[in-house]
Amino acid sequence: MHNTPEAATFDLARARRDTPACESVLHFNNAGASLMPQPVLDAVVNHLKLEAAIGGYEAKERQLEIVEHVYDAAARLINCTSGEIAVVENATRAWDMAFYSIPFAPGDRILTAKAEYISNYIAYLQMARRTGAKIEVIPNDEQGQTSVEALRRMIDERVKLISITHVPTHGGLVNPAAQIGQVAREAGVLYLLDACQSVGQMPIDVQQIGCDILTTTARKFLRGPRGIGFLYVRRELIEQLEPPFLDMRAARWVTKDAYEISPDARRFENWEMYFAGKAGLGVAIDYALDWNVEVTWARIKRLAEQLRGRLRELDFVTVHDQGAERCGIVTFNVEGPGSAEVQRRLAEFRINVSVSLEEYSRLDLSERGIKDLVRASVHYYNTEEEVERFCECLARVNADKTV
Ligand SMILES: Cc1ncc(COP(=O)(O)O)c(C=O)c1O
Repeated sequence: MHNTPEAATFDLARARRDTPACESVLHFNNAGASLMPQPVLDAVVNHLKLEAAIGGYEAKERQLEIVEHVYDAAARLINCTSGEIAVVENATRAWDMAFYSIPFAPGDRILTAKAEYISNYIAYLQMARRTGAKIEVIPNDEQGQTSVEALRRMIDERVKLISITHVPTHGGLVNPAAQIGQVAREAGVLYLLDACQSVGQMPIDVQQIGCDILTTTARKFLRGPRGIGFLYVRRELIEQLEPPFLDMRAARWVTKDAYEISPDARRFENWEMYFAGKAGLGVAIDYALDWNVEVTWARIKRLAEQLRGRLRELDFVTVHDQGAERCGIVTFNVEGPGSAEVQRRLAEFRINVSVSLEEYSRLDLSERGIKDLVRASVHYYNTEEEVERFCECLARVNADKTV
């Protein structure tokens, strides 16, 4: 198990040393929020302390370089320019700022995926109600991921937007984002990618994927703080998109009756923001790059496969993951107790997991007859030993239920 290239180059002891909470908790809730490494925590806390010591505005001025570094860091991470990045409070708001900028007309078609993220789907429903645009769901292929062939057949001149979630929140699959990007490019259709669960988990290159817009958050696989995320919008598109609301960061008030919208992605931002979070996100991205995302992605996949394999050996567990390529999110049911009960019992062993409910993904989970799921999501700082301990504790949860 340890003779892999990843094991040769990966310094697990350092990863765990940098993450002091590894000592006290078995954290398999990285798809919820990862444990922050010490340098990220230090960046956030130092900024907050400075705000308390000298004043919020003054702290921002003094830390300007550290705070503004996030744009260059994000651009390097996903291979774009810093002017194409907007930093906002979370992935959903990043997504909204782009989506609600698109001028939909009656009959425009929005093509989306079955396992689309709940908040995105709610926004489609609202947009459809407001404008008469139509939502159409791309079927899955036989492996349970968005079918590129089906998408190709759905393309016509009324398709205004292809909008999918790269890694669905509640299953192990990775949607074929780059192949979908190829279809979008060939058709000249706008392509919006929710990469909230994939940025930080796997290498992401917006040029290679071919998306026009991408959104993500800091707290998940990037290991940044809560309350911050970012948006990428392709340069040529920025000036065509007028954000749903503007403030003094997004636009300048140039004469009594006129404003000028920022020519770059700042037009999607708010004037007031979480500067400590911005500092922390910049450090989190540098930290991820320093580990080499290729290397950590290989390790995440390997740990997740180990977990799936061990879970499948347990006769009281059903693993539900789908897809040709699988990621660090592992979902399953335990025979008998509901997922919330399993989560509660695992917490007694200081094990963190989360629960996905049918209502989070009505197109996908309802069709598969799944009411709820336990979601165990691994990161590179988790260990093989933790996977084993996790399964032992799950066996104890199962044994207790039969007493
Ligand atoms: C696929 C996906 N998209 C978007 C989001 C929303 O992210 P945020 O809570 O930062 O708005 C999540 C959060 O779980 C997610 O899993």
